[in-house]
Amino acid sequence: MNTPLTVRASGRVNLIGDHTDYTGGWVLPMILDLGTTVEGQRVSESMWTLTSADEPDAISIEPGLSHPETIEPRWGRYVAGVLNELQALGVSVPGFSGHISTTLPIGSGLSSSAALEVVIARVALAIAGVELEPIAIALLCQRAEHVASGVPCGIMDQLCITVGLPTTATLIDCQSLAFQHVEIPDELEVITRFISHRTLSGSEYSDRVNDCQRIEKIIGPLRHATIADLENIDDERLQRRARHVISENQRVLEFVEALGHKNFSRAGELMLASHLSLAKDYETSNLVMDAAVSDFMSEPGMLGARMTGGGFGGCIVGLKRKT
Ligand code: GLA
Repeated sequence: MNTPLTVRASGRVNLIGDHTDYTGGWVLPMILDLGTTVEGQRVSESMWTLTSADEPDAISIEPGLSHPETIEPRWGRYVAGVLNELQALGVSVPGFSGHISTTLPIGSGLSSSAALEVVIARVALAIAGVELEPIAIALLCQRAEHVASGVPCGIMDQLCITVGLPTTATLIDCQSLAFQHVEIPDELEVITRFISHRTLSGSEYSDRVNDCQRIEKIIGPLRHATIADLENIDDERLQRRARHVISENQRVLEFVEALGHKNFSRAGELMLASHLSLAKDYETSNLVMDAAVSDFMSEPGMLGARMTGGGFGGCIVGLKRKT
């Protein structure tokens, strides 16, 4: 008899550094207590059959043989995407039958899709008896996301989920994929608040990625650009997009420094500046998210707050001094 297994992957919240990962910039996410769990067992047939606590219809997938982008129900696309990527890496994935459940609000900007990808990769590797480095798992899950959703996401979510430690932020250099764990000082509390549902599969996220590609044709890699380079960009919109990315990369590094020096008010200011930059220059916020950040700041002890993740809704993240 095949032994039943239970495997989990966390969601993530990004403290600072949004829309910087797909141009090789800096990000500072951390994994959450919330996450996605798969329970089940290896089966002798080759199919993967999964039921979900949140979806009415089960999925049935043949690893390596499916076209992920065509699968219904749609959550099966992520599963098929991951299984295909593993097969492409030469991992022979046995069949599996199981049930999936999550404590992550879906469509909340807390990376429910990346958590689904990573938990599926972990299950598949466990039953195949194969070990892969966390970075390799993150990269294959990112490719699966591109295929499954058509969203050209960066590496932040999948890498944070595969290498993150509880209650600790992860500073990631999205160019080299080097990462460093950053302690959250005891005096501080990180608060994540769900505001509104959103989806990134619309065109807006891809539009921003396209804008960045156009900018890089003019001034070279955004990762190495400075504010002085902005004067070489004639297009007003592209200039604002570039200003967000360049300043956001600086804010991530300054934020880590501020935490290290226990300069908490500066850390809070940087979060607010990040939100403003996302709202005005990158245009990924909206009035509801802006109001949520202001409301959050009116509560006692709040040091800073900002929208977190891809934007257009989702969650805000705040930094509070513990009382
Ligand atoms: C989404 C993407 C990430 C990242 C963020 C914005 O979460 O999946 O790769 O680009 O948006 O920072």
